[in-house]
Amino acid sequence: MWVWALLALAFAAATAAAEGVEVNPDRARINYMLNCQGCHLPNGGGVGDIPQMRNFVGNFLKVPGGRAFVVQVPGSANAALDDAGLAELLNWMLLEISAAQLPEDFEPYTAAEVGQYRALPLSDVNAVRLPLIQKIALLSGN
Ligand code: HEC
Repeated sequence: MWVWALLALAFAAATAAAEGVEVNPDRARINYMLNCQGCHLPNGGGVGDIPQMRNFVGNFLKVPGGRAFVVQVPGSANAALDDAGLAELLNWMLLEISAAQLPEDFEPYTAAEVGQYRALPLSDVNAVRLPLIQKIALLSGN
């Protein structure tokens, strides 16, 4: 009996890895420290021209184009992480610092999805960001 349980576990792990939605929180946290924290601070707070991600960044996933923007913004897209590593970091980060702002039907990023967005870098970050911020403001009635 236990053999089947082990096989089922192994299969589940392999499937999650294949879809690129595995999240190892310790690895994600270390990757955030190495790649993001220098600008975004340990808690995702904003400083200077670095926008506050804490209690905010999840909002982007509620408006069209925002899910791609979070990956395409240069700090994400150019990070020295492969697609699976960036997907893991973003999935971890969104839940860690902005879970309350995520849409109820939030689906974790897969490595393949991250790869597709990364292949289309943003030429003008603010030209994409401003309309997204306006749509987010309309959602919350501000
Ligand atoms: C060198 C500083 C720097 C680093 C390192 C950095 N970022 Fe950023 N990040 C910024 C700045 C500045 C912005 C504002 C948009 C822009 O000008 O790129 C930003 C914007 C963002 C946004 C959009 C937030 C918003 O409100 O527009 C996300 C998401 C983001 N960064 C994620 C990350 C992640 C994830 C990492 C690490 C993998 C990272 N960043 C690394 C500087 C940085």
